[in-house]
Amino acid sequence: MSESMPRRFFIETWGCQMNELDTQRMSGQLMQQGILPTKEVAEADLILLNSCSVREKAEQKVYSRLGSYRRFKETRPGLLIGLCGCVAQEAGARALKRVPDLDFVLGPARVGEILDVLERRRQGERVVATGFPENREYDLDTISRHGEYKGMVTIIEGCDKKCTFCIVPFTRGPERSRPMADLLREVRHLLDYGFVEIELLGQTVNHWREPGGDADFADLLDAVAREDGVERLRFVTSYPRDFTPRMVEQFARHPNICPYLHLPVQSGSNRVLKLMARGYTVESYYDLVGQLREARPDIALSTDLIVGFPGETEDDFEQTLELIKAVRYASIYAFKYSPRPGTAAPNLPGAVEPVEADRRLQAVFAQQGEIQRDLNEQLVGEVFDVLVTGWGSRPGTITGRTPCHRVVHLPLEGAVLDGLPLGKLVSARVEQANPHSLIANPV
Ligand code: SAH
Ligand code: F3S
Repeated sequence: MSESMPRRFFIETWGCQMNELDTQRMSGQLMQQGILPTKEVAEADLILLNSCSVREKAEQKVYSRLGSYRRFKETRPGLLIGLCGCVAQEAGARALKRVPDLDFVLGPARVGEILDVLERRRQGERVVATGFPENREYDLDTISRHGEYKGMVTIIEGCDKKCTFCIVPFTRGPERSRPMADLLREVRHLLDYGFVEIELLGQTVNHWREPGGDADFADLLDAVAREDGVERLRFVTSYPRDFTPRMVEQFARHPNICPYLHLPVQSGSNRVLKLMARGYTVESYYDLVGQLREARPDIALSTDLIVGFPGETEDDFEQTLELIKAVRYASIYAFKYSPRPGTAAPNLPGAVEPVEADRRLQAVFAQQGEIQRDLNEQLVGEVFDVLVTGWGSRPGTITGRTPCHRVVHLPLEGAVLDGLPLGKLVSARVEQANPHSLIANPV
């Protein structure tokens, strides 16, 4: 326990963009109180772990990190450690039992209460702030966008889908859309700050609906794309079944909607999709991909895949490989199935041996690597507006993203006069293609 409020905080963030935004929100609230961020955990008197629980490995990682951080307490009296994010929501008070030195547990729907939690801790309470309060409105000025290159806006919270493998509906709670007027105000705020790229966030982002109204995600996309100053508009994650022809149309209508879509398919087998309760078929997915490519021929697609789902046979897996080949994704996030507490899938028969799941995962990566090299090679010679996302790994280089979401490395020279043009657009011609990135030169 500490006598006074902390002075320096260190946050480590895992998981999805929503966690990143939650980190920005916690940072902002702390900074408004004069509690400053540090990149050195050794300097911090407040350590926050913003965790992800979507797979078991992610959860283990946060506990092992907690284990190493709590040792600092021996030499640094007053040091506070808080578990935040989805593991916090999942574990609640159990986390306090499991980690005796843990000071508090703060769920994702309660990040707005970080200062209150610190105050309660100062009074001696080991706080557990979890669950899903009705009122989650917040002041835009309490978000620290420092060091960010894009402006993220959560348009829909939680998830009602209950895919049989997924813990997210339990950790992020029931689905709730935010009103369009609030969202447009938030977008304007970001544009006034100088952001040129806006990213709309939600677990099923395209399921957004005006609370108590008729407008749907197509209307929201249309409205945001029309805002003056939105050079680039993205959104993540779309649920295949919730995509409508009017949403597809927006890709044709608004050039500032990026020609990129993350469209998680999870499996190429209808039988497995049914076991996952995804609510669409491979055929309807192909149909959607066809519509998208018609509306926007240059659209790049990416996806999420799970291999080794209970009951997945060799034949089911072959169908997944076929789908990958047929769609030709620009990138793939593939995972080995991981049983999560509270979900339905662990009770399904036909568990796949871990060695076999590993083999399937490697087969996905091997096949996808070749497709990606091919697709990226086709981009050599093209000129893109690259949104600068940070310094490159080699001195004198910077890194950014094309509208189609490829990672680009380019020399700093010629791109800028002074400093890092974080969040700015730099025009560059692609000189060389790798499977996972492009090398370009400013033009
Ligand atoms: N809302 C998003 C995904 C949230 S989780 C959607 O609709 O797809 C992000 C990704 O993690 C999922 O798409 C899935 O591929 C993967 N994932 C989720 N639960 C998993 C589990 N139990 N085991 C392995 N991968 C999982
Ligand atoms: Fe998870 Fe399915 Fe929702 S993957 S986040 S339950 S759409």
